[in-house]
Amino acid sequence: MKLAVPRETTSGERRVAATPETVRKFIALGATIAVEAGAGEAASVSDQAYRDAGAQVGDRAQTLAGADIVLGVQGPDPATLTGFAPGAWLVAGLNPFGDRTRIDEYAALGIEALAMEFMPRITRAQSMDILSSQSNLAGYKAVLDAAGEYGRAFPMMMTAAGTISAARVFVMGVGVAGLQAIATARRLGAQVSATDVRSATKEQIESLGAKAVFVENLAGVEGEGSGGYATEMSPEYQAAQAALVSAHIAKQDIVITTALIPGRPAPRLVSDAQIATMKPGGVIVDLAVEQGGNVEGAIAGEVVERHGVRIVGHRNVPGRLAADASALFSRNLYNFLSAFWDKDAGRPVLPDGDEIGDAIRLTRGGAVVSARLLG
Ligand code: NAI
Repeated sequence: MKLAVPRETTSGERRVAATPETVRKFIALGATIAVEAGAGEAASVSDQAYRDAGAQVGDRAQTLAGADIVLGVQGPDPATLTGFAPGAWLVAGLNPFGDRTRIDEYAALGIEALAMEFMPRITRAQSMDILSSQSNLAGYKAVLDAAGEYGRAFPMMMTAAGTISAARVFVMGVGVAGLQAIATARRLGAQVSATDVRSATKEQIESLGAKAVFVENLAGVEGEGSGGYATEMSPEYQAAQAALVSAHIAKQDIVITTALIPGRPAPRLVSDAQIATMKPGGVIVDLAVEQGGNVEGAIAGEVVERHGVRIVGHRNVPGRLAADASALFSRNLYNFLSAFWDKDAGRPVLPDGDEIGDAIRLTRGGAVVSARLLG
């Protein structure tokens, strides 16, 4: 059973899908593991550290030769996938909706592609959930990125030269990233408020010491759909939300947006007109910028200025904390593969009908088989 960790082929991707810690654990299960030279460099893991853990370090062809399972943070360029064993698994974040053509290419290569972001939100799979582990870090980093752009301090400070007031931070979308953003902004001393469409988040916001800002005039409207995810809201709700946000945002110094809806473009939450009401020097961080953006005018990969407000649209925010993001991502992969490890087969086996396998399997036997992609 050979596992392969090729270098990431997506430009700007700094994370790596295995660390020396998970290399040791896979070897303890009886696998061999090959890592392409330089794969961990941007996440501060040297080739020598992989060798010391027991991995074979070589070029891409050597790494992939005969591999039964290829690990990745993002899906590798199909053109660079050669030499693997027939029916090999590809286990990575595969962006199935955004990179649909690529999924067809994996199918044509005879690869069984397993998309880690389709992991179901069930207790058994919590330790395998890359969306949670990476969003958590993104929420933290978003606040630090905002603080870096902000020309003022976050906490209230009483000094001999006078008092400066605390920054007001508004978090929109309180999933995993939003909760971590609230906690981080609070730790930095900001005055924090937050909003979401799922009513369950209200208590979570308050338990973190932040103020919950919710649409109250549409009783009985609930934004929670299946699996804890949000649904797309009605035009009536969106109008009420826009009015609420307009009143609130003008008083904010920092806005962090994280709102996503699975399989749909990110909801638009902040308009250019609303940005114009913010004080000059304000900062908005749009964590949804790569999914279409929550903020009008946000540009993926850029920091732009509108009406004196900086709009931060960094791509791949977890990759900006590559060492920790890789450590958690790698453990998610290990937790998944080891949970299905079949001692007799000497490899992981995903039984048909298993909730996890059925959810994450995109391709098999040369065809796309995922119900979410076909349906
Ligand atoms: P997400 O990344 O899909 O979305 C981020 C947040 O944006 C969500 O809270 C969503 O409700 C919110 N949102 C969507 N549209 C919005 C709008 N128009 N206005 C304001 N907010 C909007 O969500 P994430 O972070 O993946 O978490 C969703 C839920 O799933 C959380 O309650 C989380 O605790 C739960 N979860 C459960 C897991 C498990 O049981 N294994 C694992 C991970 C998360």
